[in-house]
Amino acid sequence: MTQLTITAPDDWHLHFRDGDMLNETVPATARCFKRAIVMPNLLPPVRNKREALAYRERILAATPPGSDFQPLMVLYLTNETTPADIHEAISREIPAAKLYPAGATTNSDSAVSAIEALYPVFGAMSNAGMLLLIHGEVTAPEVDIFDREKLFIEQHLDPIHQRFPDLKIVFEHITTADAADYVVAANSNVAATITPQHLLLNRNDLLVGGIRPHNYCLPVLKRNSHQRRLQEVVASGSPKFFLGTDSAPHTKHTKETACGCAGCYSAWGALELYTQVFDDLDALDKLEGFASFYGADFYGLKRNQSNVTLTREAWTMPSEITLSNGDSIVPFYAGQTLNWRLA
Ligand code: DOR
Ligand code: ZN
Repeated sequence: MTQLTITAPDDWHLHFRDGDMLNETVPATARCFKRAIVMPNLLPPVRNKREALAYRERILAATPPGSDFQPLMVLYLTNETTPADIHEAISREIPAAKLYPAGATTNSDSAVSAIEALYPVFGAMSNAGMLLLIHGEVTAPEVDIFDREKLFIEQHLDPIHQRFPDLKIVFEHITTADAADYVVAANSNVAATITPQHLLLNRNDLLVGGIRPHNYCLPVLKRNSHQRRLQEVVASGSPKFFLGTDSAPHTKHTKETACGCAGCYSAWGALELYTQVFDDLDALDKLEGFASFYGADFYGLKRNQSNVTLTREAWTMPSEITLSNGDSIVPFYAGQTLNWRLA
């Protein structure tokens, strides 16, 4: 196959940041995706309807002229979030709220320290039909970083799901066979996003032959048996797994330093990288469901109407992207060859 046409895809998990950075990130995503779930971990975070709608306006202002790209906004849950915040915010523009355990990742210091105390909020979300998006890692310092996702399932995710079986939960950017197995076994209200880096790479790509800071993200890359299980579930065509890049830009100097930031900026090649994964798995027929159908279905939104076409054609990801302020970003897969190109 040298050409592949699929329904236009959506990205169900990414980070646009704010300010001037939007002029880079929003066009890069709108080039390919019709909608995106925009993570709220700004400083300060997006905590309520007013902040979410104001952020949405800033994103729309950075959308290329003529584009019909639609940002979908997410509330950032804190210890102070109330059921009233949920009732006020739930809307077409704000379909979801995000649970970050405090300290789990970038800008999560003001996040949730007592997850059980938020049960009234989860109850309100369940009743209102708002989705709960979860960064599923425990943060206790004594827990090994490679075990944090598995423990989160037992300690928090399963108790939440058992208590609120009607609450729609997206287990974001899963990285382990444990997470994949949990999602497969749970009821139809539990789904997961999977990033290109967790399908393409394993922890050897982070650590063998030298530390590679541009492959560092959270949850951290795991061993190859976990990578293979993620590949297996996407190749199975299960509607519980869908596209969420977790594209997360950090400037080059904040990645290439003694204590580097977590995040892979994949927007420049997102769909192309997933296509490569499905091609390598001999599962190109499953790409459209993963990229364009299952996320919309899970969110209860219409599937997109238009198409995109990919061509089998080699191209090289640039080694750096220069921002208007002179800073630069090293994109995910920098300097490497991709086999598929978006027309
Ligand atoms: O690698 C990551 N980067 N994981 C996250 O959970 C957050 C993200 C970011 O905001 O940079
Ligand atoms: Zn993320």
